Amino acid sequence: MKFYITTPIYYVNDKPHIGHAYTSIACDVLARFARIDGAEVYFLSGTDEHGQKVEQSAEKAGMSPQEWADKNSVYFRELLAKLNITNDDFIRTTEPRHKQGAQEFWKVLQKNGFIYESKYSGWYSVRDEAYYQEAELIEGKAPTGADVEWVEEPSYFFKLSAFEDKLLEYYEANPNFIAPETRRNEVISFVKGGLKDLSISRTTFKWGVPVPGDEKHVMYVWLDALSNYLTALGYPFGFKSPAPNTGLADFWPASMHMVGKDIIRFHAVYWPAFLMAADLEIPKRVFAHGWWTNEGQKISKSLGNTIDPVGLADEFGVDQLRYFLMREIPFGNDGDFSRDKMIARINSDLANNIGNLAQRTLSMIAKNCDGKVPQHAFVDSDKKLLAFAFVQADKVRYEVLYEQHFSRALELIGQVASRANEYIDAMQPWNLKKTDPERMAAVLYVLAECLRRIGLMMLPFTPEAANKLLDQLAVAEDARMFHRVGAGNALKPGTELPAPEGLFPRFEV
Ligand code: MSP
Repeated sequence: MKFYITTPIYYVNDKPHIGHAYTSIACDVLARFARIDGAEVYFLSGTDEHGQKVEQSAEKAGMSPQEWADKNSVYFRELLAKLNITNDDFIRTTEPRHKQGAQEFWKVLQKNGFIYESKYSGWYSVRDEAYYQEAELIEGKAPTGADVEWVEEPSYFFKLSAFEDKLLEYYEANPNFIAPETRRNEVISFVKGGLKDLSISRTTFKWGVPVPGDEKHVMYVWLDALSNYLTALGYPFGFKSPAPNTGLADFWPASMHMVGKDIIRFHAVYWPAFLMAADLEIPKRVFAHGWWTNEGQKISKSLGNTIDPVGLADEFGVDQLRYFLMREIPFGNDGDFSRDKMIARINSDLANNIGNLAQRTLSMIAKNCDGKVPQHAFVDSDKKLLAFAFVQADKVRYEVLYEQHFSRALELIGQVASRANEYIDAMQPWNLKKTDPERMAAVLYVLAECLRRIGLMMLPFTPEAANKLLDQLAVAEDARMFHRVGAGNALKPGTELPAPEGLFPRFEV
């Protein structure tokens, strides 16, 4: 199965913050999960480098927009590397491959009769890079709180109004296209409210992709930006309509566009309409996650409370940051970031629950079983715990791949560790050592096998620690696949294990 997943491409007007880390980590968890589930994955991220917002921030910094984009785009690539994000490609909208592809996309929309020339007069917000209707404004500002300015200029328009019914039919026929449900309802009522044609070119500044055949215009930054999902696959080359495609284009349509709730409209209304107009297939799913606040406050540059994800990863650990962001709030909801909550999660879930289980089990095996996977003869309680781990794994798979309920998935994994910790307390293998060494061996075996399953389930979330755990259980690299979670691939007694090492240290305040 092919699985094409994308992050939004990030604006280079500023350095990355927690929101960028969040979307990227969520995509990475899904990409890694799909890979160990056996899918052929293409995972794309990148930077959105055109438009007035970038042009203005460059000007403020006293740099050309290109120099500014070159400088800032690096921070995003560094962030992805830092967070162990496994993107296969990183596209920049100033690259020739993108600009050419975006122009080809424009030409197809034009050839198919969906572009016409006229004049735009109305409100525009540079911060949001979005047009607003008079009626949408609240006390002279955009509904997002951003400043707006009056714009009057010659402009090309896209016949968005022609897609109202087609979009509604599409949402109806594809109930999983927009998630979560609240966003889906929001989008449907927006479209039902009526769609106006969309201005898709600007003439009052220069920093953009030139409109083919009329270079006084640059493409509207969102049309330029959205087409990255195609141009990264080499569009127009290899794209056939109707499918099948060839080469990288085989990954189209995207399986998942992961976005923040602020940009759902662009991805769930404009983008599918552009694609319909270009006779291309519509992505399978758009998931809009919520926004983080910082210790209860809205995050904004002007408040000076942005959170630097690199600093957090340095202080708490990459796996720990990934875990916290995925565990703390149900994916799709808004959430609040606080150091206390982060420390509490690290200590209770990672150090005390999973870390402690691994520590107790592996050090007992090292001391009492000659450092080898012990022999076993199961009793009912052993079978029960192992069966529980197996059932949970199946649920975890469903929650991640089908629902993107990452926090729920981690909760399910945590339950396996909790049960195993209860089991260890009930069985007291340290006492069995003298009274019944064979039973001790079996108990330690059950615990080690639970840890193997926990390790496999944790791989997408905390890849460093999970791999370390699987190393300590001598699980071969090629056996780190999700379908190996079952009993058929259980640990083999007698297998020599390396010396145990701590997995998740406690964070001491
Ligand atoms: N360039 C556009 C996307 C174009 S995609 C074809 C853009 N870029 S962005 O850099 O402003 O935002 C990138 C992502 O960060 C968005 O998904 C946005 O929702 C997310 N976040 C920005 N602030 C956030 C929080 N405070 N919390 C969570 N995510 C947030 O939009």
